[in-house]
Amino acid sequence: MKITVVGGGSWGLALSKVLSDNQHQVLVYDVNEKIVNKINDLHICLQLNEDIPKDIKATTNIKEAMEFSDVLLFVVPTKVLRIAIKDALPHIKGEKLIINAAKGIEPSTFLRISEIFDEMIPSEFLKGFVALSGPSHAEEVIRGNTTLITASSDKLENALFVQELFHNSDYFRVYTSTDLKGSELGGALKNVFALASGILAGRGLGDNARAALITRGLYEMSKFYKAYGADVKSITGLTGIGDLVVTCTSPHSRNYQAGFKIGNGKDLEETLNSMTMVVEGIRTCEAAYLFAKDNNVDAPIIDAVYDVVFNKMNPEKVAKRLLGRSVKSE
Ligand SMILES: NC(=O)c1ccc[n+]([C@@H]2O[C@H](COP(=O)([O-])OP(=O)(O)OC[C@H]3O[C@@H](n4cnc5c(N)ncnc54)[C@H](O)[C@@H]3O)[C@@H](O)[C@H]2O)c1
Repeated sequence: MKITVVGGGSWGLALSKVLSDNQHQVLVYDVNEKIVNKINDLHICLQLNEDIPKDIKATTNIKEAMEFSDVLLFVVPTKVLRIAIKDALPHIKGEKLIINAAKGIEPSTFLRISEIFDEMIPSEFLKGFVALSGPSHAEEVIRGNTTLITASSDKLENALFVQELFHNSDYFRVYTSTDLKGSELGGALKNVFALASGILAGRGLGDNARAALITRGLYEMSKFYKAYGADVKSITGLTGIGDLVVTCTSPHSRNYQAGFKIGNGKDLEETLNSMTMVVEGIRTCEAAYLFAKDNNVDAPIIDAVYDVVFNKMNPEKVAKRLLGRSVKSE
């Protein structure tokens, strides 16, 4: 099959490699000419400095990219998603299946990513939407390390199609789910807890605190699942606890790394300036914080991360506030 990948960063190219390993033809579209040249001339992923298969081609021409295939895999930071869709829209002629692998919730609207596509792409051009999510660092996938992930869609047939597209019995096992909401929420929210996990580590706290954070964080996530009408059972799957564990414990996680720096005393601007790749948890923290306030969701950990990151509150003071809350049954 032919697949267009929008976004040639670390995750876009790791997924392109899986598709190429599965004998599909991939054309990557990226706005950054340097990234496109590295792919075409040196067969390298610029962000990860890793080799990619020679048959992966790239372009900065959005028209060419949209005409290449009816299957579009979007892997751009959520901050620029609306820009990427707007640029693509005039060149979308027939019905397209959209796969999204980026993770976030829009702060101003609380929309999940599939809802942004629904809002922006006229229904006659939208064959369906599939979210690809789970515990998967690009650094490991691009080296062919064993990874399990879930393709989620309201329509099972679309999830099955994407499962077949990506499944590789050597290293990339793909499950399906019809709980699109749960998958999108899990992928977005876990990044806020990864920031918290990094902050704890940056303050020198240990494994006990991290395990407690993951456990109570999972409970906090379940409240958002309920408020959004997602299936709370999904929280025990790859898109829930799977992704939460990997991102709260791995040094590959950009959100964990950013949290670590903030925990070490760097402010937000300094932290973000020192990161070369996207830190989605910051934007999602704002969205989750505001959503919780608007919808009466009790989210003490998200409140705490928000206060440290946006209100520059001392992490020690915020941790004391969390520990000092009235005691209760688990
Ligand atoms: N890196 C990972 O391990 C990983 C794993 C799972 C999910 N994700 C998610 O995938 C998304 C992308 O992450 P990443 O790590 O690949 O980021 P990245 O910073 O490595 O790459 C983003 C790419 O998007 C390109 N881009 C920016 N604006 C664009 C536009 N308008 N049109 C086309 N391309 C554009 C940039 O030039 C860049 O190459 C994020 O939401 C992230 O949370 C990442």
